[in-house]
Amino acid sequence: METKIAVLASGTGSNFSALVNGDTGPGRVDILLTDNENAGALKLASELGVDSRYLYPGKYRTKFGTKEEEYWAEFLLNRGIQLVCLAGLMRIIKGPLLDAFHGRIMNIHPSLLPAFPGLDAQGQAFRYGVKIAGCTVHYVDGGTDTGPIILQESVPVLDSDQRDSLAARILLKEHEIYSKAVKAHCQGRAVYSEVVR
Ligand code: GRF
Repeated sequence: METKIAVLASGTGSNFSALVNGDTGPGRVDILLTDNENAGALKLASELGVDSRYLYPGKYRTKFGTKEEEYWAEFLLNRGIQLVCLAGLMRIIKGPLLDAFHGRIMNIHPSLLPAFPGLDAQGQAFRYGVKIAGCTVHYVDGGTDTGPIILQESVPVLDSDQRDSLAARILLKEHEIYSKAVKAHCQGRAVYSEVVR
């Protein structure tokens, strides 16, 4: 049976596009939601023929207002969404959305978590001087880039790399593993289980 997916993005939307075009098994991207009226992802959605919507996120910069987060959750539930994929959403999900979709929200992050959570993970890894960078798809648990890991892939750091060349290669890997992780979830091969710390 088909799994209805909503992708939540604030920016360019290349991972959104990869999920629309990739092999996600029984998963199908039903809608793109954004908190940014100028998100490139909105233009991509119309080019890809995917329904899209800007929803007001509230007055804060890095989280939702409580009322607004309730509205987003209600919107997704009413639409019959079964899986929420964050793809560059620049906000923490904590309350109503997490409660409504616990174990059914995924995120993609451009580092081998738990190393380098937060902003500019690729720059953090590059400046630290790691020799192996990478990306992670994980379930969301209310922290910043924490939660049970579903898939990871490594990307070697080359002697010739700068931050941006490394980030570009990581992004290509992100596109590959996001679809794979979504497919695994939709086929029941990935399930949420609390991280033991
Ligand atoms: C990606 O690097 C993703 O890992 C991070 O935000 C970026 C979004 O890029 N969470 P795009 O909008 O999908 O191109």
